Amino acid sequence: MQKISNYISLVALAFLAFACNNDKTTPGYTFMDDMYISPALETYGKTTLTANGMEAQLPVNGTVPRNYVVYEFEDNQEGYDLAKAELMMPDEFKTDAALAEGKQLYTIFCNHCHGPKGDGNGHLVEIGKFPAVPDYKAREITAGSIYHVIMYGKNLMGSHASQLTNEERWKIVRYVQDLRGDVVTETAETTDAVVTDTEETAVIETIDQQS
Ligand code: HEC
Repeated sequence: MQKISNYISLVALAFLAFACNNDKTTPGYTFMDDMYISPALETYGKTTLTANGMEAQLPVNGTVPRNYVVYEFEDNQEGYDLAKAELMMPDEFKTDAALAEGKQLYTIFCNHCHGPKGDGNGHLVEIGKFPAVPDYKAREITAGSIYHVIMYGKNLMGSHASQLTNEERWKIVRYVQDLRGDVVTETAETTDAVVTDTEETAVIETIDQQS
């Protein structure tokens, strides 16, 4: 037994000695290199490891961010009309909690043009930096059309799609409807996730078809 352990120590020592060298800038001889030295790739550098020679690769076709919701109405008058008639607010946003969050978001994203009361007297309009903004009450709008306008904008109003998630948009819609005095039937608060598995699959299929 003693002999075996002596032998093992000797071999280990030999390996250790063998690994040393005088050059302080190299790690010396390393066993199992791949374990310590992985190819360090620069995000936008060149490489021989990928088919097109570039290190940054596009996501696989059909990839969508988690919780991404495809918006199926197009950015034209037809899409606007369809959204106005058919796009309904999911029940989970018809709550007081959603309304309160909607107010906060509205204050950040819409107030400066539309004003705190939604009558078009936002700060930018008052100081003359932005031309007239309509009063929500003067427009015939529905939850669907408000959502559509947040997605794509309308004339002088730009799209807010990139700044707001699907849920945040609905919360703002809820608050805009409140400013208009629309009656939104309150429902019990639900905890359902917005995107169910089947919806997510449908989303991926849609994207596949588009590309
Ligand atoms: C930079 C100023 C500006 C900001 C910010 C802005 N809007 Fe507007 N909005 C406008 C203008 C201008 C119009 C009138 C567009 C038109 O009909 O020509 C408008 C129109 C609308 C309409 C009526 C559209 C219709 O169908 O007639 C809605 C609803 C609306 N905005 C909601 C919002 C919401 C919600 C936000 C915040 C997420 C927001 N806006 C942010 C300027 C703005």
